[in-house]
Amino acid sequence: MKIRTEKESDFVAVNDLLLATFEGEGEAKLVSALREKASPIISLVAELHDEIVGHIMFSPVKITGHEDFKIMGLAPVSVLPEHQNKGIGAALINEGLNKCRELGFLAVVLLGHAAYYPRFGFKQSTKFGLICPFDGVPPECYMAMELIPGSLNEVSGQIHYHPAFSEL
Ligand SMILES: CC(C)(COP(=O)(O)OP(=O)(O)OC[C@H]1O[C@@H](n2cnc3c(N)ncnc32)[C@H](O)[C@@H]1OP(=O)(O)O)[C@@H](O)C(=O)NCCC(=O)NCCS
Repeated sequence: MKIRTEKESDFVAVNDLLLATFEGEGEAKLVSALREKASPIISLVAELHDEIVGHIMFSPVKITGHEDFKIMGLAPVSVLPEHQNKGIGAALINEGLNKCRELGFLAVVLLGHAAYYPRFGFKQSTKFGLICPFDGVPPECYMAMELIPGSLNEVSGQIHYHPAFSEL
């Protein structure tokens, strides 16, 4: 299994993966919109025997009052149902976090399963004073991680996503 940067020739396979993994077309549309409109993005695929079996995307978010702070939002991440629970999601997340660090980002936020992401170092975002912008999210499901220890010490506030997220 190989993790690599997504290429234009992967777009159809990634779209099919997103449609197979999530209910509805929201995530597939979101990924297409972010590819076009957000910058920089990190978009990685997991390839197994020439098949795309997983995908992850990171796009920049902003913290109110700290608009220059370099922070990424992880969304979405997906692994084809028949390939889940084999460590592919973990490999995508770890490689994605490395790429975020390489690009000089200082932290990452995400909305996800509270039982899954703490193993990568994510903690409830409110511990860092970062506020989820979405309604009705259980606080333990909105999480943040420092890519450089202490990077979130001096910043707090509400997170703002790219407008493409409001169409989800
Ligand atoms: C979440 C997801 C990306 C994980 O990928 P994966 O390759 O199956 O994950 P890994 O093999 O690295 O890790 C498996 C672990 O994830 C846990 N996990 C998977 N889905 C979970 C869920 N919905 N809630 C809690 N834990 C979950 C498994 O229980 C397993 O835990 P264990 O190691 O303690 O047994 C994958 O399950 C997926 O695509 N789910 C559907 C899409 C989705 O919900 N994406 C996240 C929101 S954007």
